[in-house]
Amino acid sequence: MIEKIYLIGMGPGDPKYLTLYAVETIKKLKLFLIPAKTGKKSDLTQMRKKIISFVKRKKDYRIIEIPFPERKKGDKYKNLVEEWREIKANILKNILQKETEKEAGFIVWGDPSLYDGYIEIFKNLQKKLNFEIEIIPGISAFQVLSAKHKISLTQIAGTTIFTTPRQLRKMKNIECNTVVFLDNYKTYKIFANSDLKIYWGAYLGTEKEVLFSGRLKDIIEELIRLRDKLKKEKGWIMETYFLIP
Ligand SMILES: C[S@@+](CC[C@H](N)C(=O)[O-])C[C@H]1O[C@@H](n2cnc3c(N)ncnc32)[C@H](O)[C@@H]1O
Repeated sequence: MIEKIYLIGMGPGDPKYLTLYAVETIKKLKLFLIPAKTGKKSDLTQMRKKIISFVKRKKDYRIIEIPFPERKKGDKYKNLVEEWREIKANILKNILQKETEKEAGFIVWGDPSLYDGYIEIFKNLQKKLNFEIEIIPGISAFQVLSAKHKISLTQIAGTTIFTTPRQLRKMKNIECNTVVFLDNYKTYKIFANSDLKIYWGAYLGTEKEVLFSGRLKDIIEELIRLRDKLKKEKGWIMETYFLIP
């Protein structure tokens, strides 16, 4: 049985964003668990494998690709996410119990603490199974975005909000720097007539990286065209943006 899981933040996609702590941990492990994405999103599984093989030059390890089901769509978002996490936890429970290896790495996109459920999933699983967790932080997409646009995310004594489209839609005005993850809906459109600036980036930290910025009302049409084109070409898009008053 697996007695220890390392949740390893892999950064935004390119091995150059791995921390030394992540590299040392990947080096010593012989077993890795990664979510198996299918179809166009199989790129995401390949990128996780690339991270592991970059660090482990010798093929002295195994990878278990886990075909987690997709989350059900529906109105009760929180309940559906909790249900989905429970399903994932049960799948992981089986793997942890059956494995002969004592330790395994679970490769998490960016940093495990941001818009990723696996810290909670593994902590809940600890109520049913006896194993340890160690979390290795990673560089998050928003850090690469601020570095590439060369902007400071916090103003003097200011507040910065991290949010998603669901919450952004409820905001009437944006009064402090706002970081938006997981937007499949171009939610910035609701602020098209404001004076906000947008700093946008897709496939950050990879060779496909695209950056775009400007006053939202001046560039919104061009941004929408760019986003549609990128998504069509690749079949998926990972984007993060800042809205700055
Ligand atoms: C499930 S969340 C995971 C976030 C991750 N834990 C992090 O710290 O970046 C996935 C979202 O993160 C953002 N993201 C992750 N990697 C990205 C990248 N390379 N470029 C742009 N956005 C990225 C996108 O908003 C994407 O929809």
